[in-house]
Amino acid sequence: TFVVTDNCILCKYTDCVEVCPVDCFYEGPNFLVIDPDECIDCALCEPECPANAIFSEDEVPKGQEVFTQLNEELAQKWPNITEMKEQLPEAEKWDGVEGKIQYLEK
Ligand code: F3S
Repeated sequence: TFVVTDNCILCKYTDCVEVCPVDCFYEGPNFLVIDPDECIDCALCEPECPANAIFSEDEVPKGQEVFTQLNEELAQKWPNITEMKEQLPEAEKWDGVEGKIQYLEK
């Protein structure tokens, strides 16, 4: 499965949802997640993310392991998103800032 990690927070570009063949993205206020039970490992979303926030489960960067569990958990709670929309207003400013998990709204 693929995992959305820290750098999506406060950016939420949503390019990823447009290419997902199984519509397995779920949307929160300032972050998106992938449902690991629905993801078919096609890898199409990974290169689409302008923030490079999507990783294969076995390549999640060190220190971001918590996001694997967060994707699984929040996918059960948040609504499905299948079409691209506008990024968050301060996406450019936040792209690349480390440790945005402290701002994650659930
Ligand atoms: Fe987030 Fe990247 Fe998708 S910023 S919404 S994972 S395109």
